Amino acid sequence: MTAVIRLEDIMKTYVMGDAVVHALDHVSVEIGVGEFTSIMGPSGSGKSTMMNILGCLDRPTSGQYYLDGKEVAGYSDDELARTRNAKIGFVFQNFNLLPKLSAQLNVALPLVYAGIGEEERLERAKTALEAVGLGDRIDHNPTEMSGGQRQRVAIARALINDPAIIMADEPTGNLDTKSSYEIMDIFKKMNDNGKTVVMVTHEPDIAEQTKRILTMRDGKLVSDEWRADHV
Ligand SMILES: Nc1ncnc2c1ncn2[C@@H]1O[C@H](COP(=O)(O)OP(=O)(O)OP(=O)(O)O)[C@@H](O)[C@H]1O
Ligand SMILES: [Mg+2]
Repeated sequence: MTAVIRLEDIMKTYVMGDAVVHALDHVSVEIGVGEFTSIMGPSGSGKSTMMNILGCLDRPTSGQYYLDGKEVAGYSDDELARTRNAKIGFVFQNFNLLPKLSAQLNVALPLVYAGIGEEERLERAKTALEAVGLGDRIDHNPTEMSGGQRQRVAIARALINDPAIIMADEPTGNLDTKSSYEIMDIFKKMNDNGKTVVMVTHEPDIAEQTKRILTMRDGKLVSDEWRADHV
């Protein structure tokens, strides 16, 4: 297995007055290229903290994080941001879309930062929206869309730079069952196309659709289960 992600003895510690919280407590794990992994665990167990560190949005207090074999601790904030933009696409529970921009402009936005011209931006955004089944909604604003449609726009945006890794924190948390399963089908398709997918979820029936389930409790990784039907 080629590890795209390797955590070694990661700690993330918050000190609040007299209280010390180990949001991540000696976490070591490897995630291989092309895996489809979910992270489960009760509220406060450290799932979002883990995602933020995996996604280079935050740094650990101690321990090593190797992304594509390179330790990220030595990176400056700029290098970290550049690595993130090049390699990782994010999907959030509350979609994080700009409400006054059309779906097409929302999806095209990361390409502005990548320095790509307008015509190509719009063309690529249209293709990305077609890929998530929203070819007929490209001119709609998020406020004119259902939750499931908004999340599909967010996924199209996460994919627009063709990142190797997709990270999602509770991507189906605000969706009804039918929309959740549609979103999972899109993640499965992305994974079939070779993307590494890591997602946090509270819902066992969602986690069961992934290939591997990591479970956290009190900042510790307490179980690592490969789904039998995927082995
Ligand atoms: N910025 C912060 N300052 C202090 N403590 C924090 C901070 N962020 C997280 N924590 C603490 O770290 C622990 C883990 O939080 P985290 O957000 O990772 O949990 P979670 O598993 O994502 O929970 P949820 O399922 O509710 O989203 C919690 O005890 C939380 O209170
Ligand atoms: Mg969380």
